[in-house]
Amino acid sequence: KSNIVTCTAPVNIAVIKYWGKRNEELILPINSSLSVTLHQDQLKTTTTVATSRSFQEDRIWLNGKEEDINHPRIQSCLREIRRLARKRRSDGDPGFDLTSLSHKVHICSVNNFPTAAGLASSAAGFACLVYTLAQVFGIEGELSGIARQGSGSACRSMYGGFVQWIMGQKDDGKDSLAQQVEPETHWPELRILVLVASAERKPIGSTSGMQTSVQTSCLLKHRAESVVPGRMVEMTEAVQRKDFAAFAELTMKDSNQFHATCLDTYPPIFYLNNVSQQVISLVHRYNRHHGETRAAYTFDAGPNAVIFILQQHVPEFVQAVQHFFPPESNGGHDMISCFVFKAGPGPCVVEDP
Ligand code: DP6
Repeated sequence: KSNIVTCTAPVNIAVIKYWGKRNEELILPINSSLSVTLHQDQLKTTTTVATSRSFQEDRIWLNGKEEDINHPRIQSCLREIRRLARKRRSDGDPGFDLTSLSHKVHICSVNNFPTAAGLASSAAGFACLVYTLAQVFGIEGELSGIARQGSGSACRSMYGGFVQWIMGQKDDGKDSLAQQVEPETHWPELRILVLVASAERKPIGSTSGMQTSVQTSCLLKHRAESVVPGRMVEMTEAVQRKDFAAFAELTMKDSNQFHATCLDTYPPIFYLNNVSQQVISLVHRYNRHHGETRAAYTFDAGPNAVIFILQQHVPEFVQAVQHFFPPESNGGHDMISCFVFKAGPGPCVVEDP
């Protein structure tokens, strides 16, 4: 008997950034964060999991290439899912398939976007892994605490729309979970532009970058303790009121403070490049020109800008970008490609893969 399920999961973009862990193994953050889940019509991870009594061992393929199943974060997710499945069996659920627990899994996962483009792929990847494994083992309910143990930001990809990851207080991490603030239908006019300035790999990964920041940056400590708690409240309210100017200003300030903590890290970490800085000044000039905050930028651990803007202003903003970064400029160095997204739902099962 074999069992096979395919699911997809979305990418998310943080507007209040997660940076820094208080527990490396459980992936517990030093501050809460808030993100927008992108629609899966363009960016997504697709994962197929098969179980069979004939499989000799657990195996995993990422984008067509077999990877080491013993990677600690993959092992955490597998272990936690199997633990939940065992618990369900011991709770005496009669519908539960007793055989599947002893079966090995084969996992096959593909991104429909280049991993190296700096667009968070670990979030969609681990969210999809956990969601698909849960389907295979027949587990329902709260799964963000397991996805979190694959990659911190992955817990936010377990829900659609506007999502907060509450840092929690407990040492075992049981209260460090993601929660939907508003569904994707809440703010239909909101658009998310991804401006790809560079497809180069990021110099320092987020996992090791935030480790150095926690060890060396006192600005990060200040941010986590005294800045983010207030911003989480303000951001949640801005989203609930659909107050674009408040949402946008907080988004830009939080991205700037995150990159300031990177600069305050010793040795310093630079994720923004020349093009990123030009995009930042373009957005401020654009807003000043219109006498109101119409666009916001945010940057993760890489140079690509993500822009939040309302639907009606997308054409004029894209025009401004094309004006400042003409396609023929600098032998292609400053060329920017632009992708437009909406907010979207969380992971789902593909019925007919
Ligand atoms: C800058 O979730 O990739 O994108 O938990 O070590 O896997 P690990 O890190 P990761 O960090 C994401 C950092 C960020 C900000 C964010 O998404 O909140």
